[in-house]
Amino acid sequence: MENTRQISEQQLKVIRESVDIVDIISGYIPLVSKGKSFFGVCPFHDDHSPSMSVSREKQIYRCFSCGAGGNVFTFVMNYENINFLDAVKLIAEKAGIPLQLQEYSAPRQKKFETYYEIYDLAHKFYQNNINTAMGKDAKSYLTNRGLGSDVIKEFEIGLSLKNAEMLTKLLQKKEYSAKELVKTGLVNENEKGLHDVFYNRIMFPLWNLEGKVVGFSGRIYQNQDTAKYVNTKETDAFKKGELLYNYHRAKNEARKVGQVIVMEGFMDVIRAYTIGVTNVVATMGTAVTKNQALLLKRMAKEVILCFDGDEAGAKATMACSNELLKIGVTPKIVRLEEQLDPDEYILKYGKNQFCRKLENPIQVMDFKLDYLKQKKDFNNGQDVTVYIRQVLTELEKMDDPVLKELTIQKLSSETHLDPTFLKSQMKKPEDTPVHVEKKEVTTKQNKYQQAEKNLIYYMLISPEVIQLYQKHITYMPTKIYRMLAIQIACYYKDYKFISVADFMTSIQNDETMCNALNEILKLDLKEEYTLEQIMDYIKTIHEYGIQFQCKRFQEMMQTEIDPMKKAEIGQKIIELRKSEMIR
Ligand code: GTP
Ligand code: MN
Repeated sequence: MENTRQISEQQLKVIRESVDIVDIISGYIPLVSKGKSFFGVCPFHDDHSPSMSVSREKQIYRCFSCGAGGNVFTFVMNYENINFLDAVKLIAEKAGIPLQLQEYSAPRQKKFETYYEIYDLAHKFYQNNINTAMGKDAKSYLTNRGLGSDVIKEFEIGLSLKNAEMLTKLLQKKEYSAKELVKTGLVNENEKGLHDVFYNRIMFPLWNLEGKVVGFSGRIYQNQDTAKYVNTKETDAFKKGELLYNYHRAKNEARKVGQVIVMEGFMDVIRAYTIGVTNVVATMGTAVTKNQALLLKRMAKEVILCFDGDEAGAKATMACSNELLKIGVTPKIVRLEEQLDPDEYILKYGKNQFCRKLENPIQVMDFKLDYLKQKKDFNNGQDVTVYIRQVLTELEKMDDPVLKELTIQKLSSETHLDPTFLKSQMKKPEDTPVHVEKKEVTTKQNKYQQAEKNLIYYMLISPEVIQLYQKHITYMPTKIYRMLAIQIACYYKDYKFISVADFMTSIQNDETMCNALNEILKLDLKEEYTLEQIMDYIKTIHEYGIQFQCKRFQEMMQTEIDPMKKAEIGQKIIELRKSEMIR
C-alpha cells in the first residue's frame, strides 16, 4: 500500500474520473463498440480475436480469455510495464491535471530492496573504475571498437578490477551479510572466504523493464581464455526471459515510430544507438520467450527482426518469428550478408546502407521459404517433398489469409504443383479451441460461495447492499471473500462512495484480492437487484455458518462421554436449527 500513500484516494478518484477508460485503451489497441461495451484484442495474452471488453459505464476492462482485468491505472501499468505511481502520473498528464509529487521517486518493491541497493553500489563502483588509471586498457578496447566516452556514459558501462576482492570488501563495509551478497551473483564464497565473481571484465549493466539495474554482463577485453561474456545469475529480480536489453530506453521511440527492432546482442544495440537508431532492443542471445514476445507486441505495431547474419542467427530468426506468430504478430525480417552481425555490418557498410536494409525488410514467409530451401536439391524429389511439407507446416501457423494465398502461389510456381492441391494438403486449423476455452470452466462452487460472490458483486454497485451486509453478516465462510467484503465495507466507510474502478485502485497491491475481484466481476449480473434477492444471499451465507457450527457440535457429541454434557450439546444443536428456521 506504500505507494498509494503519496496521493490520496480522493485525488486518485479525481484523476481516474477525468479520463474515459475507453479513450485511454483505444490509444493503445483498436476497440470496436458492441452493445454496451467495447471490444479489442487482449494485449496480455496470445489473443487473435477480441476477447477484451471495456465498459464505459463501469470504467473497467476484462479479458474473457486470460482473466486480465482492472481499471484504467491497471491497464496502463500492465501495458507500459510501469509501476502504479508512474501510471497515475501518465494519466494525470493526459488529463492535464497537475500532480505535485515533489520528492517523487519510484517506489521500490520491498522484497528486492537489498538487491537494488547492492547492484546500485556495484554499478557506481564499476562505472568509477573505468575512468581511473586502471580502466585505461578497457577504455582503449572500447575506443578501438568505436565506442567513445559518450556511449560509455549513456549505456553506463563500467569495469570490474583485476583485484578480485575490491567489490566484496566495499560491500562488506556496508554490512551486508555473506548470504545476501552471494545471492546477488556478484560475490562468491570458497574455502578462502568471499570474493568477487567478476574481475577484469567490461561491465554492462542489465536493466529491468523499469530501468533499474538488476544484473550485469561482463565482457573480456584482453586475451583472456574464458567465456566471452559472463552474466550475473538469475535472481527473483532478474529473469533473463522476462526482459529485453534496452527496453526502458527504447520503448518511447518505438511507440513514436510504431516500430521496434530486435537484435541478438547488446553490442549490436549499442552500435545502432551510435548511428541514431534508438528503437532497438536485444534478446541477449537466448531463445525468445513468450513473455518477451508479448513485450514486443506491446512496444509497437511493427516488429523487425535483425539478428546475426550467420546460420545461428537465421535459426534464431525462425524461432523468434514463430513465437511472435503464435501471439498474432507478423514480424518483418532483415538478413545481413557475409554472416555479419548488426554491429559489424554498421562498422563495415555505414549508417546509410544499414538504414536502407531496415527500410526494406522482407516478409516473414519469404524469409522462411529461403531458409527452408537451404541445402535442398530441387532435382531431388525427396528434398522437394520435405520442402513442401515444411512450408505447409509453417503456413499453418499463419493467421493472414492474404499472405497464405501469396505463399501458396509462390510455392506452386517453385514446385509446379497445382495451388488447389497444395492447399488441400494443408492441415485444416482445428476448429479453434479458443472459443471453447472461452466458455468459462465453471469450477464446482457450492451455493454458499456463489451467494458470497453474488453479494459482493452487488456490494460493489450499491451502498444499500453494503449496509445490508454490515447489518446481517458477521462472518463470510470463504476467507478471500470475507477479506474482500471487509475491504469494500471499509472503503465505503472511509470514502462514502463506492465504484468498482476506484475500489480496484485501493487493492491493486494485493494480487490475490485482485484475482478474486476479477473472478466476481466475471459474473456479469444484472445491474438491478431486488431486496429479496439480496436477503436470499444473506440467508444462504447464514445457513452455512449454522451448518458449520452444527457439524462441529455433532463431532463434539460423538467424542463426549459425559451424558450431561452430551445433552447440553444436543440442546445447542436444536437451538441452532431453530435460529435457522426463524431467519
Ligand atoms: P561482441 O562479441 O562483443 O560483439 O558481442 P556480440 O553481441 O557480437 O555477441 P554474440 O553475437 O556472440 O552474442 C549475442 C549475445 O549473446 C551477447 O550480447 C550476450 O548477451 C550473449 N552471449 C554471447 N556470448 C556469451 C557467453 O559466452 N556467455 C553468456 N552468458 N552470454 C553470451
Ligand atoms: Mn559482435
